[in-house]
Amino acid sequence: MSGLGNSGSGGRPGSLEARRAAALERLKQVGQDHLLAFWDRLDDAARESLLAQVDSLPLDVVDREARAIRAGRASADSVPPDLAPASVLRRGDIDVAHWSAAGERVIRAGRVACFTVAGGQGTRLGWDGPKGIFPSTPLSAKPLFQVFAEAIAAARARYGAMVRWYIMTSPLNDAQTREFFASHSWFGLGAGTVTLIPQGTLPSLSRDGRMLLSSPSVIAVNPDGHGGAVRALRDSGALEQMRREGIDTLSMFQVDNPLVRVVDPLFIGLHTEHPASSAEASSKVVPKRNAAEKVGVFCASGGRTMVVEYSDLPAALASSAHADGSLRFNAGSIAIHAFGVPFLERIAQGAGALPLHHAAKKVPHVSVPEGQPVEPPSPNAVKLETFIFDAVPLATKALVLETDRDEEFAPIKNAQGEDSPASSRTAQLERAARWLESRGTRVARDASGALRCEIEISPLTACDAGEIPARLIPREVSEGQTLMI
Ligand code: UTP
Repeated sequence: MSGLGNSGSGGRPGSLEARRAAALERLKQVGQDHLLAFWDRLDDAARESLLAQVDSLPLDVVDREARAIRAGRASADSVPPDLAPASVLRRGDIDVAHWSAAGERVIRAGRVACFTVAGGQGTRLGWDGPKGIFPSTPLSAKPLFQVFAEAIAAARARYGAMVRWYIMTSPLNDAQTREFFASHSWFGLGAGTVTLIPQGTLPSLSRDGRMLLSSPSVIAVNPDGHGGAVRALRDSGALEQMRREGIDTLSMFQVDNPLVRVVDPLFIGLHTEHPASSAEASSKVVPKRNAAEKVGVFCASGGRTMVVEYSDLPAALASSAHADGSLRFNAGSIAIHAFGVPFLERIAQGAGALPLHHAAKKVPHVSVPEGQPVEPPSPNAVKLETFIFDAVPLATKALVLETDRDEEFAPIKNAQGEDSPASSRTAQLERAARWLESRGTRVARDASGALRCEIEISPLTACDAGEIPARLIPREVSEGQTLMI
């Protein structure tokens, strides 16, 4: 038991009290010593836990960001003056068969793994639990994770190669995610080939740059953003495993897009071998729906490619158009990337390679020194997070491929309206219908072209129209019919 009266002297070296004194000293230097305000009230287990939390804090980073907040600066969120639209490859510009064959060779050689970022909190959707468990497909209501698992199983079978799957969870949803996969026998992929990696956290800061306590012994933290993937992949040993196994390319996507092509030979081929790529960071984009659409935009500055968040793109640029009326800054990010493993190893060196962004957030906490619970009615704090797309400008050459929204992007983000379960369902039904139509099926539609039937195609059956086995293609899907193939 540590001596309470001993706080000033520091206690025996290595004792709880000595460690408290050392922690207090470090916290004082950055104006955050209020974190130990309730020390005298805590039992030893809570003290140990609190000291461990303090030890794991990147205090230099916290201090830098706290100063930025106090000065009214959002450190990562300014836009360079020479911003121009990124140069984008379109299918019409390339030999699709050539690059697809190149990608297929890379996949067959076992050089590709999938990576899903699934550590988000899914607050907009309002789903209680990991978003990957959300029932997403139109007829069979498969959870998102199952959709990806089936697509990965299909890729393994098709290319005769191991395709490992890494999934970034967060400390908040890791246990539930693990339990979900275990209870579904890892969807037949083999437990050893699916790796869950919890991401790190960063402290939330008050508007005057002070860290918050969610209880007297717990520092309020939030997951460190999808950019935390770089650190998580390194610290978990995943990058090391990939290097050992000859995996040099990571096909990365978010957890909420059931239309994603988890392993796309064309994209992999372009990423690994096209002259516009350094095989470091490649991305897929879709044309923006309109100037106001809330997606990041691929831009160029100082010879580098970068993503500018919709909220940071000046309105005049967002709406500027070519003579034919099309948007100049039109390359909307859909968060599908290919990353080179050596590139991730390179940028993972040196903590904080990715800049920190600030977001306003409601953070319940206890007041200091009163110790009263505070439930803020409106955002009271700043959440610090990193974004994976900030890795793009670190690549020597970043390839950007435009793709078809209807084919590859129907995310489930909001409870209703755009990017919701309902809009994603419609997009999935439409894509399945289109695939069958392209293979000769007559699909029931009304005069306006709206579907009058429901079709779902399992990723185990096909991951594009051409893969659907001829014997499964019906002559017709009639009005009111539901068809699962
Ligand atoms: P979103 O920006 O959609 O955030 O994440 P979210 O947390 O899922 O949802 P909201 O904003 O609370 O409604 C995009 C992708 O990045 C992952 C998410 O799981 C999703 O796949 N992500 C986000 C992480 O893995 N970690 C994070 O810290 C944040």
